[in-house]
Amino acid sequence: MTVESVKPESSGTTAPQEPPLAGGGVPLLGHGWKLARGPLAFLEQLRDHGDVVRLRLGPKTVYAVTAPELTGELALSPDYIISGPLWESLESLLGKEGVATANGPLHRRQRRTIQPAFRLDAIPAYGPVMEEEAYALVERWSRGEVLDATAEGFRVAVRISARCLMRGTYMDARSERITSALATLFAGMYQRMVLPLGPLYRVPIPANREFNRALADLHRLVDEIIAERRGSGQKPDDLLTALLEAKDENGDPIGEQEIHDQVVAILTPGSETAGSVVMSLLHVLTEHPDQVDKIRAEVKNVVGDRRVAFGDVRKLRHTANVVVETMRLYPAVWILTRRAVTDTELGGYRIPAGADIVYSPYAVQRDPRSFERNEEFDPDRWLPGHSAPVPKYAMSPFGVGNRKCPSDHFSMAELTLIAAVVASAFRFEPAPGSDHRTHIGITLRPRRLRLRALPG
Ligand code: HEM
Repeated sequence: MTVESVKPESSGTTAPQEPPLAGGGVPLLGHGWKLARGPLAFLEQLRDHGDVVRLRLGPKTVYAVTAPELTGELALSPDYIISGPLWESLESLLGKEGVATANGPLHRRQRRTIQPAFRLDAIPAYGPVMEEEAYALVERWSRGEVLDATAEGFRVAVRISARCLMRGTYMDARSERITSALATLFAGMYQRMVLPLGPLYRVPIPANREFNRALADLHRLVDEIIAERRGSGQKPDDLLTALLEAKDENGDPIGEQEIHDQVVAILTPGSETAGSVVMSLLHVLTEHPDQVDKIRAEVKNVVGDRRVAFGDVRKLRHTANVVVETMRLYPAVWILTRRAVTDTELGGYRIPAGADIVYSPYAVQRDPRSFERNEEFDPDRWLPGHSAPVPKYAMSPFGVGNRKCPSDHFSMAELTLIAAVVASAFRFEPAPGSDHRTHIGITLRPRRLRLRALPG
């Protein structure tokens, strides 16, 4: 069955219908308990109930979109904005004035400010830092210690984003502090999203105190970074300078709060997402030693015996396909939400103004209607002409439309380089205590991956 064949008749003359209610709800909690207990399996089976389905989360009705083409329509339509539980929980971290949470004209202006730093032709300038950081991993791991993939993944992602986008040697020391603050914050954010217990998070128990300390430290760090850059009188060609020089729609400098929120909104989503993909990549290389061999052979062929350089990345096709296939099966961003700003329709179904809508890149990217051997890890499926064409929007780990991740090229370059460098140096095996089961938080990643890096 193709995706097209299950698409419902779309509007025109037919009045939009109420989407079907997903099965399996229970009194009071509705589908909330299933979403809390096993969100991935729950979101995946929703496709059996329809292309758009209604869920009950306690007293609230939420709409889930399961068909790839409708997730694209949702992301591209002006009838929906960034909002809903995911974003509300992130606002306490990201602020309301940063690009990831703003909407409307403010968001458009902010995208214009940050976009040049992520343009395809801007990426090669980041090459030396990406190379340095990828080789720093290999040098550290060569000491033979068991490596903690969670810490390593975060560290390299934070360091690359911070050093590339907010240049300066001061970043080297700070990126360790950012890493540690973010690890605490992301764990706490997810809990606050799925268990919105409001005032209870203000009770001064150790977990809340630790969360608040990490939040305060992150904001302090960002203020320090901004103050130091201003104090230096320097204006290197980077994202921080672009933010400090940005003007609002009247041509006036943007406010301090907006500068602060923008720095947080760029550093934090970038670190958590790219860090999670590094962790999943290490898991994949451990599970599939044949892929380590294939990457090595490709690197040998393209690069020879010298170090892998940033300039080699676009020739490392198989290595890039390993990264893409990793993101298909383990998308860091596994759930996204939107809110309808008007009474509207999607795929012939009625969506009322104010409704929260969720969709899951995880479920869409594992849909057997879109991918042959949908659960199988097969980077070769991305070779031209190798498999049936993938339906539009069925593979969108960076999102779609005006909220699409600005960092898609940046991240692909970084991840491909890391995959090439680490697979050329090591094979991996799980160390005692390693647990590769999926951890579901704000992002998706292996739970507690502890690996031994074996040279040769
Ligand atoms: C937005 C994924 C890396 C900065 C997004 C969205 C996705 C995503 C799916 C769209 C959210 C939506 O549609 O609601 C990823 C993945 C990454 C990655 C999978 C790594 C593999 C990064 C990095 C940065 C970054 C490294 C910055 C250094 C942002 C920002 C937004 C965003 C600022 C908000 C854009 C907007 O709302 O206009 N990301 N991201 N991301 N990402 Fe990424």
